[in-house]
Amino acid sequence: MYAPLKNDSFLRACLRQTTEHTPVWLMRQAGRYLPEYRATRARAGSFMGLATNTDYATEVTLQPLDRYPLDAAILFSDILTVPDAMGLGLSFVNGEGPRFASPVRDEAAVAQLAVPDMDKLRYVFDAVTSIRKALNGRVPLIGFAGSPWTLACYMVEGAGSDDYRLVKSMLYSRPDLMHRMLAINADAVALYLNAQIEAGAQAVMVFDSWGGVLADGAFQQFSLAYTQRVLKQLKREHEGQRIPHIVFTKGGGLWLEDIAAIQPDVVGLDWTVNLGAARARIGDRVALQGNIDPNVLFAPPAAIRAEVERTLASYGPPIGPDGRAGGHVFNLGHGISQHTPPESVAVLVDAVHEVSRRMRSA
Ligand code: CP3
Repeated sequence: MYAPLKNDSFLRACLRQTTEHTPVWLMRQAGRYLPEYRATRARAGSFMGLATNTDYATEVTLQPLDRYPLDAAILFSDILTVPDAMGLGLSFVNGEGPRFASPVRDEAAVAQLAVPDMDKLRYVFDAVTSIRKALNGRVPLIGFAGSPWTLACYMVEGAGSDDYRLVKSMLYSRPDLMHRMLAINADAVALYLNAQIEAGAQAVMVFDSWGGVLADGAFQQFSLAYTQRVLKQLKREHEGQRIPHIVFTKGGGLWLEDIAAIQPDVVGLDWTVNLGAARARIGDRVALQGNIDPNVLFAPPAAIRAEVERTLASYGPPIGPDGRAGGHVFNLGHGISQHTPPESVAVLVDAVHEVSRRMRSA
Protein backbone atom coordinates (compact mmCIF):
# COMPACT_ATOMS: atom_id res chain seq x y z
CA MET A 1 0.00 0.00 0.00
CA TYR A 2 2.86 2.42 0.83
CA ALA A 3 6.30 2.72 -0.80
CA PRO A 4 9.06 0.77 1.04
CA LEU A 5 11.34 2.84 3.31
CA LYS A 6 14.49 4.21 1.69
CA ASN A 7 15.91 5.33 5.05
CA ASP A 8 14.94 3.22 8.05
CA SER A 9 17.83 4.37 10.31
CA PHE A 10 15.43 5.98 12.81
CA LEU A 11 13.34 2.81 13.25
CA ARG A 12 16.45 0.66 13.48
CA ALA A 13 18.00 2.85 16.20
CA CYS A 14 14.70 2.78 18.16
CA LEU A 15 14.91 -1.02 18.14
CA ARG A 16 18.64 -1.02 18.98
CA GLN A 17 19.75 -2.35 15.63
CA THR A 18 22.93 -1.14 13.86
CA THR A 19 22.82 1.96 11.64
CA GLU A 20 25.37 3.65 9.35
CA HIS A 21 24.92 6.97 11.12
CA THR A 22 23.08 8.23 14.18
CA PRO A 23 19.60 9.22 12.98
CA VAL A 24 18.40 12.72 13.85
CA TRP A 25 15.09 14.58 13.99
CA LEU A 26 14.08 17.59 16.08
CA MET A 27 11.14 18.13 18.37
CA ARG A 28 8.95 20.86 16.77
CA GLN A 29 10.95 20.58 13.54
CA ALA A 30 7.96 21.98 11.63
CA GLY A 31 7.27 25.36 13.17
CA ARG A 32 7.66 29.07 13.34
CA TYR A 33 11.45 29.25 12.93
CA LEU A 34 10.84 28.32 9.26
CA PRO A 35 9.66 31.21 7.03
CA GLU A 36 7.77 28.74 4.81
CA TYR A 37 5.83 27.55 7.90
CA ARG A 38 4.88 31.13 8.78
CA ALA A 39 3.68 31.65 5.18
CA THR A 40 1.46 28.53 5.21
CA ARG A 41 0.14 29.43 8.66
CA ALA A 42 -0.78 32.90 7.41
CA ARG A 43 -2.72 31.31 4.53
CA ALA A 44 -4.48 28.92 6.95
CA GLY A 45 -5.38 31.83 9.26
CA SER A 46 -4.70 30.02 12.55
CA PHE A 47 -2.87 27.09 14.10
CA MET A 48 -6.03 24.96 14.18
CA GLY A 49 -6.77 26.02 10.60
CA LEU A 50 -3.42 24.44 9.69
CA ALA A 51 -3.82 21.33 11.80
CA THR A 52 -7.37 20.51 10.69
CA ASN A 53 -6.65 20.87 6.94
CA THR A 54 -5.10 17.71 5.45
CA ASP A 55 -3.23 19.51 2.67
CA TYR A 56 -1.77 22.19 4.94
CA ALA A 57 -0.82 19.65 7.62
CA THR A 58 0.94 17.56 4.97
CA GLU A 59 2.70 20.57 3.49
CA VAL A 60 4.13 21.81 6.81
CA THR A 61 5.16 18.31 7.95
CA LEU A 62 7.34 18.00 4.83
CA GLN A 63 8.84 21.52 4.99
CA PRO A 64 11.77 20.71 7.30
CA LEU A 65 12.51 17.52 5.31
CA ASP A 66 12.84 19.52 2.13
CA ARG A 67 15.46 21.71 3.79
CA TYR A 68 17.45 19.21 5.86
CA PRO A 69 18.38 15.50 5.54
CA LEU A 70 16.37 14.57 8.66
CA ASP A 71 15.85 10.86 9.38
CA ALA A 72 12.21 11.03 10.51
CA ALA A 73 9.07 13.08 9.98
CA ILE A 74 6.64 13.94 12.78
CA LEU A 75 2.95 14.46 12.21
CA PHE A 76 2.01 18.13 12.25
CA SER A 77 -0.66 18.46 14.94
CA ASP A 78 -0.77 19.20 18.65
CA ILE A 79 -1.15 17.24 21.89
CA LEU A 80 -4.18 19.37 22.81
CA THR A 81 -6.39 17.98 20.00
CA VAL A 82 -7.54 15.26 22.45
CA PRO A 83 -8.97 17.55 25.17
CA ASP A 84 -10.39 19.70 22.35
CA ALA A 85 -12.29 16.61 21.13
CA MET A 86 -13.54 16.16 24.73
CA GLY A 87 -15.32 19.50 24.29
CA LEU A 88 -12.97 21.87 26.15
CA GLY A 89 -12.81 24.38 23.28
CA LEU A 90 -9.16 24.84 22.23
CA SER A 91 -7.84 28.04 20.70
CA PHE A 92 -4.36 29.41 20.08
CA VAL A 93 -4.22 33.14 20.68
CA ASN A 94 -1.35 34.60 18.65
CA GLY A 95 1.78 34.93 20.79
CA GLU A 96 0.03 33.61 23.92
CA GLY A 97 -0.06 29.86 23.44
CA PRO A 98 -2.99 27.49 23.90
CA ARG A 99 -6.18 28.26 25.81
CA PHE A 100 -9.27 26.21 26.74
CA ALA A 101 -12.70 27.89 26.88
CA SER A 102 -13.98 25.35 29.46
CA PRO A 103 -11.23 24.24 31.84
CA VAL A 104 -11.88 21.27 34.17
CA ARG A 105 -11.75 22.71 37.68
CA ASP A 106 -14.37 20.92 39.81
CA GLU A 107 -16.17 17.66 40.45
CA ALA A 108 -19.01 18.49 38.04
CA ALA A 109 -16.59 19.19 35.19
CA VAL A 110 -14.66 15.96 35.85
CA ALA A 111 -17.95 14.01 35.94
CA GLN A 112 -18.73 15.24 32.43
CA LEU A 113 -15.43 14.06 30.96
CA ALA A 114 -15.43 11.01 28.71
CA VAL A 115 -13.21 9.35 26.12
CA PRO A 116 -14.12 11.27 22.96
CA ASP A 117 -15.53 9.72 19.80
CA MET A 118 -12.45 9.21 17.60
CA ASP A 119 -14.50 10.51 14.67
CA LYS A 120 -13.94 14.02 16.07
CA LEU A 121 -10.22 13.44 15.48
CA ARG A 122 -10.66 12.09 11.97
CA TYR A 123 -8.75 15.13 10.62
CA VAL A 124 -5.64 13.90 12.45
CA PHE A 125 -5.87 10.36 11.06
CA ASP A 126 -6.52 11.74 7.56
CA ALA A 127 -3.39 13.90 7.91
CA VAL A 128 -1.34 10.84 8.97
CA THR A 129 -2.41 8.90 5.87
CA SER A 130 -1.84 11.87 3.58
CA ILE A 131 1.65 12.55 5.03
CA ARG A 132 2.63 8.88 4.83
CA LYS A 133 1.67 8.87 1.14
CA ALA A 134 3.48 12.15 0.44
CA LEU A 135 6.63 10.88 2.17
CA ASN A 136 6.73 8.09 -0.39
CA GLY A 137 9.15 6.04 1.73
CA ARG A 138 11.70 8.83 2.29
CA VAL A 139 11.75 8.45 6.09
CA PRO A 140 9.40 7.00 8.72
CA LEU A 141 6.49 9.01 10.15
CA ILE A 142 6.16 9.51 13.91
CA GLY A 143 2.71 9.92 15.47
CA PHE A 144 2.32 11.42 18.94
CA ALA A 145 0.11 12.37 21.87
CA GLY A 146 0.46 14.11 25.21
CA SER A 147 0.79 12.03 28.37
CA PRO A 148 -2.36 11.82 30.51
CA TRP A 149 -0.70 14.04 33.17
CA THR A 150 0.56 16.68 30.71
CA LEU A 151 -2.91 16.88 29.15
CA ALA A 152 -4.44 17.22 32.63
CA CYS A 153 -2.12 20.19 33.31
CA TYR A 154 -3.62 22.11 30.38
CA MET A 155 -7.17 20.86 31.05
CA VAL A 156 -7.17 22.13 34.65
CA GLU A 157 -5.04 25.25 34.24
CA GLY A 158 -6.88 26.15 31.01
CA ALA A 159 -3.56 27.36 29.53
CA GLY A 160 0.17 27.07 30.14
CA SER A 161 1.32 27.73 33.71
CA ASP A 162 4.40 28.84 35.63
CA ASP A 163 3.57 27.07 38.90
CA TYR A 164 0.86 24.43 38.11
CA ARG A 165 -1.01 25.70 41.16
CA LEU A 166 -4.51 24.72 40.04
CA VAL A 167 -3.69 21.24 38.78
CA LYS A 168 -1.53 20.47 41.83
CA SER A 169 -4.27 21.82 44.15
CA MET A 170 -6.64 19.26 42.66
CA LEU A 171 -4.01 16.52 42.85
CA TYR A 172 -3.40 17.09 46.58
CA SER A 173 -6.93 17.98 47.69
CA ARG A 174 -9.03 15.73 45.46
CA PRO A 175 -6.78 12.87 44.27
CA ASP A 176 -9.94 10.90 43.43
CA LEU A 177 -10.91 13.49 40.79
CA MET A 178 -7.37 13.60 39.43
CA HIS A 179 -7.24 9.80 39.11
CA ARG A 180 -10.58 9.80 37.31
CA MET A 181 -9.42 12.43 34.80
CA LEU A 182 -6.09 10.64 34.24
CA ALA A 183 -7.81 7.30 33.59
CA ILE A 184 -10.04 8.90 30.95
CA ASN A 185 -7.07 10.69 29.40
CA ALA A 186 -5.06 7.46 29.28
CA ASP A 187 -7.80 5.50 27.53
CA ALA A 188 -8.40 8.39 25.09
CA VAL A 189 -4.66 8.68 24.30
CA ALA A 190 -4.34 4.92 23.74
CA LEU A 191 -7.26 4.89 21.29
CA TYR A 192 -5.90 8.00 19.58
CA LEU A 193 -2.39 6.55 19.13
CA ASN A 194 -3.69 3.20 17.92
CA ALA A 195 -5.81 5.03 15.33
CA GLN A 196 -2.70 6.96 14.22
CA ILE A 197 -0.84 3.64 13.86
CA GLU A 198 -3.70 2.24 11.77
CA ALA A 199 -3.66 5.40 9.64
CA GLY A 200 0.07 4.96 8.90
CA ALA A 201 2.23 6.19 11.82
CA GLN A 202 5.40 4.03 12.02
CA ALA A 203 6.41 4.99 15.58
CA VAL A 204 4.56 6.81 18.36
CA MET A 205 5.80 9.22 20.99
CA VAL A 206 4.18 10.21 24.30
CA PHE A 207 5.15 13.76 25.36
CA ASP A 208 5.18 14.00 29.16
CA SER A 209 6.37 17.58 28.97
CA TRP A 210 5.32 18.44 32.53
CA GLY A 211 6.03 15.15 34.33
CA GLY A 212 9.17 16.77 35.74
CA VAL A 213 7.22 19.37 37.73
CA LEU A 214 5.86 16.64 40.02
CA ALA A 215 7.31 15.59 43.38
CA ASP A 216 9.00 12.21 43.67
CA GLY A 217 6.21 9.78 44.47
CA ALA A 218 3.58 11.99 42.82
CA PHE A 219 5.37 11.51 39.49
CA GLN A 220 5.13 7.72 39.71
CA GLN A 221 1.50 7.79 40.89
CA PHE A 222 0.00 10.54 38.73
CA SER A 223 2.15 10.61 35.61
CA LEU A 224 4.05 7.36 35.06
CA ALA A 225 1.24 4.98 36.09
CA TYR A 226 -1.02 6.52 33.45
CA THR A 227 1.64 6.58 30.73
CA GLN A 228 1.99 2.88 31.55
CA ARG A 229 -1.78 2.49 31.17
CA VAL A 230 -1.39 3.98 27.67
CA LEU A 231 1.56 1.76 26.69
CA LYS A 232 -0.21 -1.41 27.85
CA GLN A 233 -3.00 -0.73 25.35
CA LEU A 234 -0.81 0.24 22.38
CA LYS A 235 -0.28 -1.91 19.32
CA ARG A 236 3.31 -3.13 19.22
CA GLU A 237 3.07 -4.24 15.63
CA HIS A 238 1.15 -3.22 12.56
CA GLU A 239 1.09 -5.06 9.24
CA GLY A 240 4.13 -7.10 10.29
CA GLN A 241 6.22 -4.06 11.31
CA ARG A 242 7.26 -3.26 14.89
CA ILE A 243 5.96 0.13 15.99
CA PRO A 244 8.46 1.65 18.47
CA HIS A 245 7.01 3.47 21.48
CA ILE A 246 8.90 6.55 22.73
CA VAL A 247 8.32 8.14 26.14
CA PHE A 248 9.75 11.62 26.77
CA THR A 249 9.50 13.02 30.30
CA LYS A 250 10.99 16.49 30.49
CA GLY A 251 12.75 16.69 33.84
CA GLY A 252 12.58 12.91 34.25
CA GLY A 253 16.33 12.31 34.66
CA LEU A 254 16.02 11.21 38.29
CA TRP A 255 13.46 8.53 37.42
CA LEU A 256 15.06 6.76 34.43
CA GLU A 257 14.83 3.26 35.94
CA ASP A 258 11.15 3.80 36.74
CA ILE A 259 10.49 5.05 33.19
CA ALA A 260 12.35 2.11 31.61
CA ALA A 261 10.33 -0.26 33.80
CA ILE A 262 7.07 0.59 31.97
CA GLN A 263 8.79 -0.86 28.88
CA PRO A 264 8.86 1.79 26.17
CA ASP A 265 11.29 1.05 23.32
CA VAL A 266 12.90 4.48 23.58
CA VAL A 267 13.31 6.96 26.44
CA GLY A 268 13.58 10.64 25.47
CA LEU A 269 15.96 12.76 27.57
CA ASP A 270 16.27 16.48 28.18
CA TRP A 271 19.65 18.23 28.31
CA THR A 272 20.16 17.87 32.06
CA VAL A 273 21.01 14.17 31.65
CA ASN A 274 24.41 12.76 30.65
CA LEU A 275 23.73 10.30 27.81
CA GLY A 276 26.53 7.93 28.79
CA ALA A 277 25.32 7.80 32.41
CA ALA A 278 21.73 7.20 31.20
CA ARG A 279 22.99 4.44 28.91
CA ALA A 280 24.78 2.77 31.83
CA ARG A 281 21.57 2.93 33.89
CA ILE A 282 18.92 1.76 31.36
CA GLY A 283 20.67 1.28 27.99
CA ASP A 284 20.44 -2.52 28.25
CA ARG A 285 16.63 -2.25 28.02
CA VAL A 286 15.83 0.81 25.88
CA ALA A 287 17.20 3.09 23.18
CA LEU A 288 17.79 6.74 24.10
CA GLN A 289 16.62 9.86 22.29
CA GLY A 290 18.09 13.32 22.79
CA ASN A 291 19.43 15.50 24.15
CA ILE A 292 21.26 18.65 23.04
CA ASP A 293 20.15 21.99 24.54
CA PRO A 294 18.03 23.75 21.85
CA ASN A 295 19.87 26.98 22.72
CA VAL A 296 23.05 25.52 21.19
CA LEU A 297 21.42 26.52 17.89
CA PHE A 298 22.01 30.19 18.73
CA ALA A 299 25.79 29.68 18.72
CA PRO A 300 28.09 29.98 15.66
CA PRO A 301 28.61 26.87 13.46
CA ALA A 302 31.90 25.79 15.08
CA ALA A 303 30.29 25.79 18.54
CA ILE A 304 27.27 23.82 17.24
CA ARG A 305 29.60 21.20 15.74
CA ALA A 306 31.59 20.98 18.97
CA GLU A 307 28.40 20.44 21.02
CA VAL A 308 27.21 17.75 18.57
CA GLU A 309 30.58 15.97 18.95
CA ARG A 310 30.32 16.25 22.72
CA THR A 311 26.78 14.82 22.74
CA LEU A 312 27.67 11.89 20.45
CA ALA A 313 30.83 11.21 22.50
CA SER A 314 28.88 11.26 25.76
CA TYR A 315 26.61 8.52 24.39
CA GLY A 316 29.74 6.52 23.54
CA PRO A 317 30.53 3.83 20.96
CA PRO A 318 27.63 2.80 18.67
CA ILE A 319 28.15 -0.85 19.63
CA GLY A 320 27.98 -1.49 23.36
CA PRO A 321 30.11 -3.89 25.43
CA ASP A 322 27.38 -6.55 24.99
CA GLY A 323 28.00 -6.48 21.22
CA ARG A 324 24.57 -4.94 20.62
CA ALA A 325 23.92 -1.62 18.94
CA GLY A 326 23.19 0.90 21.68
CA GLY A 327 20.38 2.70 19.93
CA HIS A 328 20.77 6.47 19.96
CA VAL A 329 18.36 8.80 18.18
CA PHE A 330 19.82 12.29 18.13
CA ASN A 331 17.37 15.05 19.07
CA LEU A 332 17.08 18.25 21.05
CA GLY A 333 16.35 18.06 24.77
CA HIS A 334 13.08 19.92 24.13
CA GLY A 335 11.33 21.71 21.26
CA ILE A 336 13.21 24.03 18.92
CA SER A 337 12.82 27.75 19.66
CA GLN A 338 10.85 29.88 17.20
CA HIS A 339 13.83 32.28 17.17
CA THR A 340 16.28 29.64 15.84
CA PRO A 341 18.20 30.62 12.68
CA PRO A 342 17.27 27.98 10.05
CA GLU A 343 20.95 27.79 8.90
CA SER A 344 21.92 26.50 12.35
CA VAL A 345 19.68 23.46 11.91
CA ALA A 346 21.52 22.54 8.71
CA VAL A 347 24.84 22.72 10.59
CA LEU A 348 23.52 20.50 13.39
CA VAL A 349 21.98 17.81 11.15
CA ASP A 350 25.06 17.60 8.92
CA ALA A 351 27.36 17.39 11.95
CA VAL A 352 25.34 14.54 13.48
CA HIS A 353 25.61 12.53 10.26
CA GLU A 354 29.25 13.31 9.60
CA VAL A 355 30.61 12.79 13.11
CA SER A 356 28.55 9.66 13.79
CA ARG A 357 29.73 8.09 10.51
CA ARG A 358 33.30 8.88 11.47
CA MET A 359 32.77 7.25 14.91
CA ARG A 360 31.62 4.06 13.15
CA SER A 361 34.65 3.84 10.87
CA ALA A 362 37.15 4.62 13.66
O1 CP3 B 1 7.31 18.51 16.41
C1 CP3 B 1 6.64 18.88 15.42
O2 CP3 B 1 7.13 19.52 14.46
C2 CP3 B 1 5.19 18.42 15.33
C3 CP3 B 1 4.19 19.30 15.80
C4 CP3 B 1 3.96 19.56 17.27
C5 CP3 B 1 3.35 20.76 17.69
N1 CP3 B 1 3.10 20.66 19.02
C6 CP3 B 1 3.02 21.90 16.81
C7 CP3 B 1 2.84 23.23 17.40
C8 CP3 B 1 4.14 18.76 18.39
C9 CP3 B 1 4.79 17.39 18.52
C10 CP3 B 1 3.57 19.46 19.50
C11 CP3 B 1 3.51 18.92 20.87
C12 CP3 B 1 3.12 19.79 21.98
N2 CP3 B 1 2.17 20.77 22.00
C13 CP3 B 1 3.63 19.66 23.28
C14 CP3 B 1 4.63 18.63 23.73
C15 CP3 B 1 5.99 18.97 23.33
C16 CP3 B 1 6.62 20.08 24.14
O3 CP3 B 1 6.94 21.10 23.53
O4 CP3 B 1 6.76 19.88 25.35
C17 CP3 B 1 3.02 20.65 24.08
C18 CP3 B 1 3.28 20.90 25.55
C19 CP3 B 1 2.08 21.33 23.26
C20 CP3 B 1 1.14 22.41 23.66
C21 CP3 B 1 1.39 23.64 22.89
N3 CP3 B 1 1.09 23.82 21.56
C22 CP3 B 1 1.95 24.84 23.36
C23 CP3 B 1 2.43 25.07 24.78
C24 CP3 B 1 1.97 25.72 22.28
C25 CP3 B 1 2.37 27.16 22.31
C26 CP3 B 1 3.81 27.31 22.55
C27 CP3 B 1 4.47 27.89 21.36
O5 CP3 B 1 5.51 27.39 20.97
O6 CP3 B 1 3.90 28.87 20.86
C28 CP3 B 1 1.48 25.05 21.15
C29 CP3 B 1 1.33 25.58 19.78
C30 CP3 B 1 2.09 24.89 18.70
N4 CP3 B 1 2.07 23.54 18.50
C31 CP3 B 1 2.89 25.50 17.69
C32 CP3 B 1 3.35 24.46 16.86
C33 CP3 B 1 4.19 24.58 15.62
C34 CP3 B 1 3.11 26.99 17.50
C35 CP3 B 1 1.79 27.63 17.22
C36 CP3 B 1 1.69 28.53 16.03
O7 CP3 B 1 2.10 28.22 14.90
O8 CP3 B 1 1.10 29.57 16.28
